[in-house]
Amino acid sequence: MLKINKTSLSLSLNNNDQREFNFVWLRDNCQCDACLHPSTQERTLITSEIPDDIAPIDSNMDDGNLSITWNDKGHQSHYSLDWLNKHQNNKETHTCSYVDPAMGELKLWDNSLEGNIPTFNYIDLREDNSALLAWCEAIRDVGLTIVRGAPTVEGEIERFAEHVAYVRETIYDRLHNVRATPNAYNAYNVASTSLELKPHTDMPNYNNPPGVQMFHFLVNEAEGGMSTAVDGFNIARLLKEQDPDAYKTLTEIPVPFRMDSARGDILSANPLLTLDTAGNLKVFRFSNQLAQSLNLSVDKMEAFYHAYRLLGRLIEDPDNMVKFRLNTSDMMATNNLRVMHGRTSYDVNSGNRHLQLSYMDYDDVLSRIRMIKKAS
Ligand SMILES: [Fe+2]
Repeated sequence: MLKINKTSLSLSLNNNDQREFNFVWLRDNCQCDACLHPSTQERTLITSEIPDDIAPIDSNMDDGNLSITWNDKGHQSHYSLDWLNKHQNNKETHTCSYVDPAMGELKLWDNSLEGNIPTFNYIDLREDNSALLAWCEAIRDVGLTIVRGAPTVEGEIERFAEHVAYVRETIYDRLHNVRATPNAYNAYNVASTSLELKPHTDMPNYNNPPGVQMFHFLVNEAEGGMSTAVDGFNIARLLKEQDPDAYKTLTEIPVPFRMDSARGDILSANPLLTLDTAGNLKVFRFSNQLAQSLNLSVDKMEAFYHAYRLLGRLIEDPDNMVKFRLNTSDMMATNNLRVMHGRTSYDVNSGNRHLQLSYMDYDDVLSRIRMIKKAS
């Protein structure tokens, strides 16, 4: 049942399932009050101070507990079988043994989402935490939501962000207004004209772009200006299928983006497709209007433009884009690390169009999911 090896011990857990536990890991995960602060649950044991030859001098199983006396100043550790079951080694798929209650399932989409975009009622989200949980989960899994019926009061989008989590400030104003300026050539950016705004993610010029972008129509009486959205993760999947080398190129070549305002000047270069260490797509960046000129070798330049243009054509493909009308009092929110948003051009003389923007960090939305689940 308990077998001591050279650098690990083996235990039979549930159903006589034999599991192996590394000595350094066991010592490092000692649950005693001297190694784990009893009230904060923060680790006080310093991992680098564990002796290289750490090993048990005594060990036994008793009453559902594994007890070990270490050759490290005779330190004693106790682990319940329940804890060992939950934290067993040999699970390659998890980076951490904590089972994340905010873990979801990606739902990639194309234009078949049109008419099926997750849609919520503003009052429900303010008053009912189960509705708010569903909204947060839709941001996580689909990355695109519509909220109807928000009061048409200035700053409501900021209050909504504060209801969900926190406002993520950027070099835009904390509460950013988007409306056409009378002279398009004096406009703050393309969004402040009535021109078409191609699908893009916001603020790709940050090393950590805001994870959720949200806007609220205080008024939309203009003709045209249909909202558009494209799932960047789906586009990346299609690119990988069509041309794996092009996909690889876009995971490797950093693209510089820059945006400046009276509040700051943010410039950074990151691949359009940022992967995690398991090779999964983590962040999708795309903004034709904010991309800066590249400086690459001739070979790399050719490979980059081939891949970049292929990506751009997939984004523009109507099969991959949803198009929908947002009206006065509607809000839209996207997972800005994944989903692009845009709009068609509109007639500036046909009626007023004014929206306000706010951002949140994606981690704060996941945190809200955990907190609501914890409280229920
Ligand atoms: Fe935008």
